[in-house]
Order: sequence, then structure tokens, then C-alpha cells
Amino acid sequence: MSQEVRGVIAPGKGQPVRLDTVVVPDPGPGEALVKIQSCGVCHTDLHYREGGINDDFPFLLGHEAAGIVEAVGEGVEDLAAGDFVVLNWRAVCGKCRACLRGRPWYCFNTHNATQKMTLKDGTVLSPALGIGAFIEKTLVHSGQCTKVDPTADPKAVGLLGCGVMAGLGAAINTGGVTRGDTVAVFGCGGVGDAAIAGARLAGARTIIGVDVDDRKLAWARKLGATHTVNAKQTDPVEAIREATGGFGADVVIEAIGRPETYEQAFYARDLAGTVVLVGVPTPDMRLEMPLLDFFGRGGALKSSWYGDCLPSRDFPMLVDLYQQGRLDLDAFVSETTTLDDIEAAFEKMHAGEVLRSVVVL
Ligand code: APR
Ligand code: ZN
Ligand code: ZN
Repeated sequence: MSQEVRGVIAPGKGQPVRLDTVVVPDPGPGEALVKIQSCGVCHTDLHYREGGINDDFPFLLGHEAAGIVEAVGEGVEDLAAGDFVVLNWRAVCGKCRACLRGRPWYCFNTHNATQKMTLKDGTVLSPALGIGAFIEKTLVHSGQCTKVDPTADPKAVGLLGCGVMAGLGAAINTGGVTRGDTVAVFGCGGVGDAAIAGARLAGARTIIGVDVDDRKLAWARKLGATHTVNAKQTDPVEAIREATGGFGADVVIEAIGRPETYEQAFYARDLAGTVVLVGVPTPDMRLEMPLLDFFGRGGALKSSWYGDCLPSRDFPMLVDLYQQGRLDLDAFVSETTTLDDIEAAFEKMHAGEVLRSVVVL
């Protein structure tokens, strides 16, 4: 059996997305069918549309989602119809070298649904990040579903599925921000602001947000930045040193993905400080720095992958903090939109007008 629902398709490289009928199979062994309630619009969806990820068109876009399990396939025991879940794109195997060494976010054998969603003519769709959630119902692997507090607002907690988790995790999991730390964040988009929120949750004393756009800096203050710097007007490295008693920050998070800002992040850290790269660079980008500037200064240069998160551990905890009013996920929802308006949401994202547009179904 299968069902026909409406979903957002990216038909070919650089072509605008369109709504189409998608045929979704009933869940097979290990799979779950999820009725989508909300899905955030992420840069990665646009990258798929532009052909920047791979050429497996047509794509079914969307991957930052929350919804209700409608049915589960054979052998699925920890999930049932009616469960409220946040979807993740790292359903880990638990058996590979990375999983066994306690770094499941680098699992080599992550699970996705085995069956394919198709167009009515049988064309197989490639779901974005193995999810595909700009759709009324999607088919995923059961391990891609994490049960969370069912009274939470889907449009806020769905954002944990990608960008917000990446930023929160860059601060908490990768950067290891702890009580009393000084933290600087380069780039105050959705990811950087989530890193700021993470630093606040972890008890950082000073949190400096750096951006070139004053609208972004206002959002950063709302999410917990104690200081903000417009890098167009002020040298951010000097400003960060000034805000940290001349030392530089204990943890510096780069949430843009550019060599210039990575270099600034590097020089804005204190002795033995940590730099975390969470912004995504392009393949052509290069970095050249005197090795001596690293020698004798200790610390760590790290990168963060999906916030180094374990969804089954992190999502329920962060949803509880949200429910208690200690993590403001609502602040990331700049606007709600519909499946018909994804192109307009891409434009607003590109123009820096939103932290997140969230499709509500
Ligand atoms: N200095 C400071 N801030 C800058 C600079 C700069 N030179 N250049 C750009 N920015 C700011 C932008 O103004 C913007 O607010 O960086 C921010 C980047 O945020 P977004 O474009 O909203 O992207 P976001 O969704 O936060 O993702 C950040 O992580 O997931 C990746 O692909 C994504 O690489 C991107 C990064
Ligand atoms: Zn594994
Ligand atoms: Zn994403």
C-alpha cells in the first residue's frame, strides 16, 4: 500500500522548486511514516536546489522537522503511532568504530528508510539529508525519530533537527563551554545565535556576538549576547580582547565558514582557548597562518559536525529546557510559511531577513 501526498520538489540544478504529488509507501521493516507538522527552511535545502550537494535530482527538500508518527513497520519497538517526534539525519548504527569509540556523530553506517518515495510516474526522489520533510507525510528510518515532550510547540522544537542543534552543540558539545567562560561567536545567523544560546545555557560569563548586520546583532542580544560587535565598523579581534580583559575568549565559534573570519576567530582566542568551526566552507577555501602563532599557545582547533549531537540524548533534554523557559527556541522562528512559499522563504534567507522561516502544515 501507499499514499499520495503533496511535497516540495527541486526538479533540477538551479530550477525553482514546485509542489507535486508524492507517492509514499507504507513503512517497511525498521521504518516509520511521520505526519509532518512543521519544517524549518535551512541553507542546505537551497544548496540541494542549486546542485551544490550532489546531482541526484529530483530532490524532496526539507529536513528540520517535527511531527506525529502515523505508522511504524515491522520490528519497530521503541516508537508507536501517535508519538510526537523531532526528526534527525544521523540515525546511528551503534556498532561501527566511531559509535563504539563514543563519537556516534561520525557514524559511518547511518540509517535511512530503505523504500523510496516517488513521483506518480515512478521517478525516485532523493530526500534532503535522508529526510525530505517539506511534505505532508514522509518515510524515514525509525532511528531518525526522537520522541520528545508531546506538549511542546512543533515549529520551535523541529528546529533542533538541524541548524539550531548545530549551533547549540558547537558551544556545548564541541566547545565544551562551561560556567564562567568567555565566548565569542562569529556570525549571528541561525547557527551562530544558537551557539550564543548554548553558551548562555552553559553559564558563560561573557558572550560576544560578531556580525556585519545590525539586525543580526539585535537578535544575538535577544538570545544571550552580552556584547555585540559590528565587524564593518570595529575590528572584532580587538573588541573581543577588550571585552575579555585583554586576553581573548576561552571559546571562539566560527559560524560563517570563511577563511577571513576563521583567522579572526583564531586570533580572538585566549591562551589555551578553543576555536570551533561550525560554518561550512566551500572546497576552494584555503587558510594560511604562521605556525608559530599556534605553537606555545596550547588549546584546540576543532570543528563541529551536526553539533556533535546524539539526538536521542540531546533532543529530549533541549526540549525540556525549552518547555521550562530556559532555552528560547521561539526566538529562532522569524515567520511561519507554507509549502507553496518555499521560494519566497529562500529569498528572505538569502537577504538575511530571517533567522528561520518555518513551514507549518
Ligand atoms: N563578519 C561577521 N559576520 C559575517 C561576515 C563577516 N565577515 N560575513 C557574513 N557574516 C554574517 C552574516 O551577516 C550572517 O548573519 O554571518 C551570518 C551567517 O548566518 P546565515 O547566513 O544566516 O547562516 P546560518 O544559517 O547561521 O549558517 C551559518 O553554518 O550551516 C552553515 O552553511 C551554513 O556556513 C553557514 C553557517
Ligand atoms: Zn555507527
Ligand atoms: Zn539544515
